[in-house]
Amino acid sequence: MNYDPNLKANPVILQSEELYDYILETNVYPREPAPLKELREASASHPRAFFGTNPDAGQLMAMLLKLVNAKKTIEIGVFTGYSLLLTALNIPKDGQIIAIDIDREAYNIGEPIIKKSGVSKKINFIESPALPILDKLLEEKTNLGTFDFAFVDADKNNYANYHERLMKLVKVGGLLLYDNTLWGGAVAKPEDQVPENKRRLRKHTIDFNAAVTADDRVELCHVPCGDGLIICRRLC
Ligand SMILES: C[S@@+](CC[C@H](N)C(=O)[O-])C[C@H]1O[C@@H](n2cnc3c(N)ncnc32)[C@H](O)[C@@H]1O
Repeated sequence: MNYDPNLKANPVILQSEELYDYILETNVYPREPAPLKELREASASHPRAFFGTNPDAGQLMAMLLKLVNAKKTIEIGVFTGYSLLLTALNIPKDGQIIAIDIDREAYNIGEPIIKKSGVSKKINFIESPALPILDKLLEEKTNLGTFDFAFVDADKNNYANYHERLMKLVKVGGLLLYDNTLWGGAVAKPEDQVPENKRRLRKHTIDFNAAVTADDRVELCHVPCGDGLIICRRLC
């Protein structure tokens, strides 16, 4: 067997379009539920279509939701609703999702598909910045430690603030997922090699990734799928 000492472990996933396409075409798209495919395609012409959660990360998320039997979930950053519909499809009939986004307009694209899928009653969409909603939820003591699952995909500079609040809302043993934690690979590049418009959030992402890794209240795994996904499990 040839061994290339310069070859880094896992050098390809985020660096090779061919390999990424291979995963999508071979493992992800053939298993993507029809309503999710429809929503993804309906979002494709949106100028910010790249906002949508990557379907490979979505596939992992769907499995995690089932593994923890998630019933009560919270999502920060809905956009047109890909991750929201995915969550709704993978929690039980009486499951509940609080979904927060400042932009109602983008959600209008996915909402009819969500309605058609018969899962709307699980969803409480709140048009608002996320922080005040989290603070409001925290005021109500009966919410503490009751969420099974949280997905954070908005407003990267507030990830640390969301984490502190979600650590109180998510139950011990529950999961907190943070998307875009590799920020297109920028986290591993010197700042001067990163386009200027990506530098500020690159720094926030690097700081958050380090802070959450130092947080011994969670166990954690940084998964190189999509744009990077940090999965935390609340320990105490
Ligand atoms: C990357 S997109 C979310 C993608 C979504 N998870 C999906 O699967 O399509 C980020 C979203 O966060 C929303 N957003 C930005 N700042 C926010 C904030 N402070 N509070 C809540 N939502 C915010 C944006 O309007 C945008 O729709």
